[in-house]
Amino acid sequence: MSQLLVRGGGSLTGEVAVQGAKNSVLPILAATLLTGGQVELRGCPRLRDVDASIRILKTLGCDARWEGDSLLADTAGLNRCAVSDILMREMRSSAIFLGAILARCGEAEMSYPGGCELGPRPIDLHLAGLRDLGAEIRDSGGMLRCRASRLRGRDLVLSLPSVGATENLMLAACGAEGVTTIANAAREPEIVDLQEFLNACGAAVSGAGTSTVTVVGKRPLHGCTYEIMPDRIVAATYLCAAASAGGEIYLRKARESQLSTVTAVLREAGCVVRADRDGVGCVCRGRLGSVRPVRTAPYPGFPTDAQAVLMAALLRSRGATVFEETIFENRYRHVDELVRMGADIRVAGRVAVVTGTEILRGAPVRCTDLRGGAALCVAALAAEGETSIAEISHIDRGYECIEKDLRTLGADIVRTELTI
Ligand code: UD1
Repeated sequence: MSQLLVRGGGSLTGEVAVQGAKNSVLPILAATLLTGGQVELRGCPRLRDVDASIRILKTLGCDARWEGDSLLADTAGLNRCAVSDILMREMRSSAIFLGAILARCGEAEMSYPGGCELGPRPIDLHLAGLRDLGAEIRDSGGMLRCRASRLRGRDLVLSLPSVGATENLMLAACGAEGVTTIANAAREPEIVDLQEFLNACGAAVSGAGTSTVTVVGKRPLHGCTYEIMPDRIVAATYLCAAASAGGEIYLRKARESQLSTVTAVLREAGCVVRADRDGVGCVCRGRLGSVRPVRTAPYPGFPTDAQAVLMAALLRSRGATVFEETIFENRYRHVDELVRMGADIRVAGRVAVVTGTEILRGAPVRCTDLRGGAALCVAALAAEGETSIAEISHIDRGYECIEKDLRTLGADIVRTELTI
């Protein structure tokens, strides 16, 4: 087991390129199944969740291998339509494979993804939409058995703009006869990336990034070469790291248009954020100020995935900031760990109030989830002395090598083996 050791107190300076987006590559890997051909994904991040997706592709009879930072997937050999329970449990977002397998094979079998560290992770909207497209789905003993000799396009309405449901239904709709529209679709940039990938493979998808996505189904798809978009949450994490530690950093490839709610809060707190064609720079000097309440919301609102890292950046701010988490039930699990470092945070249900303290002190802490783990790194950079961060496999699910990036920016952070 590894841990991260962070010696805080220094500021960050330098430039780093932002990795490819985890939340883009996972649905795109599922989408490769629709092509039955060879796909080259450039800028593909090497992450635990990507490895889990590769294992799913391989168990289905497909091939996937790395060539530098490109992932080459060949889904011509697909010969199974079932994903084992062990693989499903490795990655909660694996439900995204359901729509793609169903569209390609006419049947699919997988276990129910169940809850996760953020709370319940229902897929009722995914299943309702697939049923509306003509799939027969039996749910017994935690297993989902789906059949659809024919999927038929139609007008679907999501009761809430779920990212995963929008993506799953876009994939299934590619295999449906006729036209499907998805109303109240999620508008996240990763959905636009999925649309661009599908269209590069010959699909006819439009409207991604707006609330209505339209898919003309049954177009013959082929392989392609595609560059994964930069990870806006990784970019948000490093901006918050600079806000926490102070200093001046530049994130190559980061796109401010996808980060505007995060950069607006950082500016309000006193950072200078400047974007140009190639990336986003951030200068932070002195203690930050508190900011108006931060309420997480579906895109283009403030991302729930950036809540923990922003909270960590504000631990030493002047004044108090209120957070309201509206997307997931259990998204304050990092708070107890931050409190060990001297943070003043009160949680009541979906609301957390952070009152800035002058000093944070390094402490032994452990990651409770992916973004909560990143928040511990952000806080540790501003803490006096050493922080040891355990259970970092959570962080590795979403950051290619967080310590390398932060070291490039001048942080004192190393990965070591944990001796018990
Ligand atoms: C995706 C992201 C995750 C991010 C989240 C919200 C990926 C791989 N993960 O997760 O990092 O935090 O979007 O931006 O892209 N819901 C239902 N029924 C459903 C589906 C969702 O009630 O069938 C609820 C969820 O419990 C949650 C809310 O809808 O409260 C949003 O979930 P959703 O947008 O689906 O998130 P994910 O796609 O799972």
